[in-house]
Amino acid sequence: MKKDFIWWRDGIIYQIYPRSFADSNNDGIGDLPGITGKLNYLQALGVDAIWLSPIYPSPDVDFGYDVADYTAIDPKFGTMEDFDELVKEAKNRDIHILLDLVLNHTSDQHAWFLESKKSRDNPYHDWYLWHDPKPNGDPPNNWVAIFGGSGWEWDPELEQYYYHMFYKEQPDVNWSNPAVRAAMLDVFRFWLDKGVDGFRLDVFNEYFKDPEFPDNPTQYGMRPFDRQQHIYDVSQPEMYPLLKEIRAILDQYQETYAVGETFLADTVQTASYIGKDKLHAAFNFEFAENRWHPKRFLNSALSWYEALSSEAWPNNFLSNHDMKRAASRYCFGEDDRRAKVAAAMLLTLKGTPFIYYGEEIGLRDIPIRKKEDIKDPVGKLFWPLYKGRDGCRAPMQWSSERHAGFSQIDSWLPVHNNYPTRNITRQESDPDSLLNFFKDIIRIRKSSKALQHGDFMPLDKNPRFILAFQREFEDDCVVVALNFSSRKLDFDLPEGTWLSLIDGSTSSGVISLTPYQAAIFKKEG
Ligand code: GLC
Ligand code: CA
Repeated sequence: MKKDFIWWRDGIIYQIYPRSFADSNNDGIGDLPGITGKLNYLQALGVDAIWLSPIYPSPDVDFGYDVADYTAIDPKFGTMEDFDELVKEAKNRDIHILLDLVLNHTSDQHAWFLESKKSRDNPYHDWYLWHDPKPNGDPPNNWVAIFGGSGWEWDPELEQYYYHMFYKEQPDVNWSNPAVRAAMLDVFRFWLDKGVDGFRLDVFNEYFKDPEFPDNPTQYGMRPFDRQQHIYDVSQPEMYPLLKEIRAILDQYQETYAVGETFLADTVQTASYIGKDKLHAAFNFEFAENRWHPKRFLNSALSWYEALSSEAWPNNFLSNHDMKRAASRYCFGEDDRRAKVAAAMLLTLKGTPFIYYGEEIGLRDIPIRKKEDIKDPVGKLFWPLYKGRDGCRAPMQWSSERHAGFSQIDSWLPVHNNYPTRNITRQESDPDSLLNFFKDIIRIRKSSKALQHGDFMPLDKNPRFILAFQREFEDDCVVVALNFSSRKLDFDLPEGTWLSLIDGSTSSGVISLTPYQAAIFKKEG
C-alpha cells in the first residue's frame, strides 16, 4: 500500500542556522538548548523537520563548515546530552531532524589532517589530496579555490601541496581512499543510530576529483574561478556508486532522507543525483536565483520537474545561509507583500518546501557597512565587490525586547535594526502578518493531498503577472493564482465552482485579484 503521508515528501523542512536561532546561555551565540526551547514555536508553525547547519566542533573559519570532529557536538552549541534532548523533544512533536554532513573537506584542525601532515608515510597521509610540486615548484595543476586563490596550499615541511576547494583551512579529503570512505560512512551510521532522520550533504558532488588531476580548460569569466571549466574538479562519475552505498545505509533505518547540495551544477546535472539508489533530493539553485517574474519561476519549476526521473520527488527553496534572503531580494523596504506571494508559491508548488529560519517573518539581510565588521572571510577577501554571507545569518528576531529576544548580550552578528517592529511576538498578534500568512498556507497545504503530492499543471504557460496552476490528486483539485504585480487584475477560474481555502467564499468564472494577492481554491463537488 502506498503510504499516505511521507514526511519528507509531503511535509515542510525548516533550516536552522544554529548560531543565530536562539541563545539559551547568553553568550551571544545560538545553541542546542535554545533550539529545543523553540520547538513549540516550530510545531505551531507546522514544520515537519528541521535541518541544522553544522553543530560539530569547528574552529569556525567557515562557521561550522570546517569540521574538526564529525561525531561530537561543539561546546559552544552544548553537549551530546543537549543533542539527545533535542532529538527526543523534536520526536515528541513529530519533528524530524536532519544534520548537515560536510564530508568533502575537514577542518585543518581535524585529527586526521594533523596526522596527515606529520609525514609522507603517516597512515593518514593519503586521507587528503597531497601532491608533489611540478619540477619548477609550481602547484600540480591550475585548479583554483572558489573562496579565492590557488586550490593548492604548500606545506614547507612535507614539501608537498594539499588541495582545497574552499578555504585553505578546509583541506579536501581523499574519497578514493577506502579507509576514508569507510570512516565517512561510519559517520552516517553514528548519527542514524542516535536517532536523526537524515542529512543535508554539503557540496557532495565535489567529493571526487579526476584521479589524473589534469588542468581544467580555461574560459572567459570574472573571477579566476570562473575562468575555468570545472570539468575535472567536480561532478565526477565516482559519485554515483557512492550514492548507492549511502542510500543503502539510509535504507536500513525507517523513513530516512538525504538532500544534497549540488555544487556548480545545473538543473539537469542536479536531477541526475536523485532517485532510487541515489539521494532523495538535491537543491535546485536555478529556481532560487530567479528574478521577480512569474514566468521565470514557472520555467524553472517546469524544467526541474522535467529533469527529474519518475521516481524522484522535487523540492524547492528560495533562501539559505549562503545567499541573500528572498525577502531582501524581492521586497521593497519593509513591505511584505511580495514575501507573501513568494511564500504561497514555495508552499503550493509541487515539491517539498524548505523554509530558512526567519523567512516566515520576512527577516531582511542585515546591512554590511564596513569591512572590519565582516565575519565571513570570503566577504573580507572580495570586499567591496562581494560582502560575504553575514547578511543572511543574523539572529532570529523573537520579540521587541533588547537584542530581539535572541540573547541578553550583543550577539555574534548584530540584530537587524528593524527588530522592534519585525519580530515573532508582534507578528503572532497581527492577523495580517507574514507569519500568520505562512501559518495559514501551511495549514491549507496540510489539509490538501493535492498540494502535498498532487500533479502540477500550469494554467498559463506564458504568464506576465499571474502565476496560476492546478494541483490534482485523486478527487482533490486545487487552483493557485498568485498575482506577482502591484495591480488589480482579473483572473479566469477554470470551469466549475471554487471554494477559496483562504477565506471560505465560493467563486466561479472571472474573479478579481488584488495587488500581490495569493488565491487558493478547491474545486467543489
Ligand atoms: C556549502 C555551504 C557553505 C560552505 C561551503 C563549504 O556551500 O553551504 O556554507 O561555505 O559548502 O563547506
Ligand atoms: Ca549560547
